[in-house]
Amino acid sequence: MTTIAPGATIGIFGGGQLGRMIALAAAQLGYRTHIYAPEASGPAADVSASWTRGEYADVEALAAFATSVDVVTYEFENIDPAAVEVLATHGLVRPGAQALRVAQDRLAEKRFVAALGGLTAPFAPVEDLDDLEQAIEQVGSRAILKTNRMGYDGKGQARLNEPGDAVGAWNAIGRQSAILEGFVTFAEEFSVILVRGADGMIHFWDSAANVHVNGILATSTTPAGALIEGQMEQARALAKQVADALDYVGVLTLEFFASADGPVFNEMAPRVHNSGHWTIEGAVTSQFENHVRAISGLPLGDTGLAAVRVEMTNLIGDDADRWQAILSDPANHLHLYGKHEARPGRKMGHVTRLTL
Ligand SMILES: Nc1ncnc2c1ncn2[C@@H]1O[C@H](COP(=O)(O)OP(=O)(O)O)[C@@H](O)[C@H]1O
Ligand SMILES: [Mg+2]
Repeated sequence: MTTIAPGATIGIFGGGQLGRMIALAAAQLGYRTHIYAPEASGPAADVSASWTRGEYADVEALAAFATSVDVVTYEFENIDPAAVEVLATHGLVRPGAQALRVAQDRLAEKRFVAALGGLTAPFAPVEDLDDLEQAIEQVGSRAILKTNRMGYDGKGQARLNEPGDAVGAWNAIGRQSAILEGFVTFAEEFSVILVRGADGMIHFWDSAANVHVNGILATSTTPAGALIEGQMEQARALAKQVADALDYVGVLTLEFFASADGPVFNEMAPRVHNSGHWTIEGAVTSQFENHVRAISGLPLGDTGLAAVRVEMTNLIGDDADRWQAILSDPANHLHLYGKHEARPGRKMGHVTRLTL
């Protein structure tokens, strides 16, 4: 098994807050980090030794990057699969290309999970308006149309309530390759976050209950309550199947709806996840540290809870202006991502509160 010893350089795709928090965890363990991103700068720049500005599809720049670091990982999964293949021939990529290929495409991830026996919303592929009309007949007109690629924080989605909404929804998502999903009735949402080592060993963090507002995660709370806890075992079994099937190395997140029929798989992220930010203070080992440990081939840390109750609240847009009030309560752990402009809907930071 390859061990990448402290002192080595970890390459990270994407220079946002997830890259920043991976870089901070890497620094704690004595690694250097090198970011690759299309922007000139970003939240991860302040805490990383090197930054390459390059397009995600620039095969030559990617190859040079892969050669210059000891392992490549990512905070962002929407990288051209052909580029990832190139990368993998020039260096070690963890998680691997197959995980990226599945997780960056909503249709592929739903098909993948359904083939493993996981429960999903009814879904159908949509390439044009005719497909959409057919899809509505198949999954029903109470549905969500989502772009297959590049969607996040509720972006690239349109709600349908009746068949007449088809044209509007198709235009709203920019007439691109999409998936139509039947609307799932659920009581609560949660995620399963696991870390899988290169030796195949898996550890799970406790599932948090996730509350979304306007399609964006607002809070994650653990313990998650009886309903979610009752569905956690089944959801974890599916997550383990997914991780094993992809021969996954690193942190993997699966989002679920807790429905009357049990856990319904929504989507997966082949990376650390916003719903796991609470683990920085709330777990013995954070998702960021264990991700670094896994991709470096180090032993994994304990994922157990470090508090009786943990609540993570995202600071969206000008929420972050309240930093002084937040810090006036000594129980709060404040995280700011160093973003210069507080646009509405933009994740500026988060606060974690522990009950010890
Ligand atoms: N099929 C569905 N039925 C009901 N609600 C849904 C469905 N798909 C998504 N949602 C709601 O929208 C949120 C965002 O959708 P999601 O597919 O997770 O996209 P994103 O990549 O933006 O997080 C979900 O967390 C959930 O609250
Ligand atoms: Mg989501």
